[in-house]
Amino acid sequence: MSKLINGFSKLTKSAKITWLSENYIDENHFNIEVIENSWYQNESIQKILEGFSENTISNFHLPFGLAPNFLINEKPYCIPMAIEESSVVAAAAGAAKYWLDRGGFHAKVIDTKKIGQVHFYWFGDTEKLKSSFNTLKTALLKDIEPLTANMVKRGGGVLDIELLDKTAEEPNYYQLFVTFETCNSMGANFINSILESFATTLTSYISNNENFIGKEKEVKIIMSILSNFTPECLVKAWVECPIEKLGTYNSMSANELADKFYTAVKIAKLDPYRATTHNKGIFNGIDAVVIATGNDFRAVEACGHTYAAKDGKYRSLSTCSLENNIFRFELEIPLALGTVGGLTKLHPMSQLALEILGNPSAQELMEIIAVVGLAQNFAAVRSLVTSGIQKGHMKMHLGNILQQLGATEMEKANCQSHFSDKVVSHSAVRDYLENSRLEINAKC
Ligand code: MEV
Repeated sequence: MSKLINGFSKLTKSAKITWLSENYIDENHFNIEVIENSWYQNESIQKILEGFSENTISNFHLPFGLAPNFLINEKPYCIPMAIEESSVVAAAAGAAKYWLDRGGFHAKVIDTKKIGQVHFYWFGDTEKLKSSFNTLKTALLKDIEPLTANMVKRGGGVLDIELLDKTAEEPNYYQLFVTFETCNSMGANFINSILESFATTLTSYISNNENFIGKEKEVKIIMSILSNFTPECLVKAWVECPIEKLGTYNSMSANELADKFYTAVKIAKLDPYRATTHNKGIFNGIDAVVIATGNDFRAVEACGHTYAAKDGKYRSLSTCSLENNIFRFELEIPLALGTVGGLTKLHPMSQLALEILGNPSAQELMEIIAVVGLAQNFAAVRSLVTSGIQKGHMKMHLGNILQQLGATEMEKANCQSHFSDKVVSHSAVRDYLENSRLEINAKC
């Protein structure tokens, strides 16, 4: 065997593992149990998971936690979150409980439009192309009828097709810029199929058009693909209460908290270094629910960050205002999600997650996920402007270090109390543990 291989995908799972162990893992370290322990015991579920991707040899597990007590538009939710970072679920649950006593969270879908583009080059007079566009549009829509019939029945389909003249930016470059409604599905496959059909229709329409001559009969299709930037698939989530109702937090008065919180969000609006971390805190919550519900977190992240930079500078996605003595904290974010199709109903854990959420529509899921992003952001910024973030983080961090060092339950309890007012680091915990073990041995 060799470190390079042809036909790897054709090997059986066990042959892939053997090849891996022989070529990429030191034989003294290879432990098949690491791979096997992460398989589902139920073989048919394991097969489903393996079918999602290629060359699968095992599963990579993330903790699946619950953040209860979310009140969203007067309705209670328990939120499933798949995330490895300590403190995120605890912070979401803390923020949910806090806002439960202050009217809960509010959320509203603003729009649900998705976007796709056919990028093409055409070598003729732009005005000629523009004047043919209405008949071209009719042909484009006619040819996709068989593909859209089901989606149309569900209330979706193609909403609009525009011809964009991009020749000022790049000679001969045009786009078909298409707007879609994909109802409860994220719609990637649907959109891409339609766009590829448009590319075919466009090519034959142009080559058969009698008004075009010579070079004008040629179109060069560059690519047909959805855009993950969906600024019109937008949702807004917010919380608000009179400033005095914020209460005292970590011995900080409501007024001081409101003021520092407002300033922290303002800083995240004007400084991209802070905005990136601020938005990362929002995505801690968003991604965890996006992953738990089997949605595409890369698409959601890419879109969110582009939206954060929509006015030419990367800014905070959330906004805070203190007007008429009301504290209002709001998040406006594009979220292209689905509750049917893709992994949503195939992955056993996302099926469970959607069930826990009451099998929401895609629009309801947009509201839920925006709320979790806001809650996460609220919890992070509140900690930052009061106790600092490390206090909460370190408790969980200490737990992880103790686990790694193989501490007993008794040692864990002693360490938790010892480090309650001290800085936690791996070496400090290891030293403390080693010393206390030495002391115990000396006494025996
Ligand atoms: C850590 O994962 C997220 C935070 O850094 C977010 C923030 O700074 O707002 C705490």
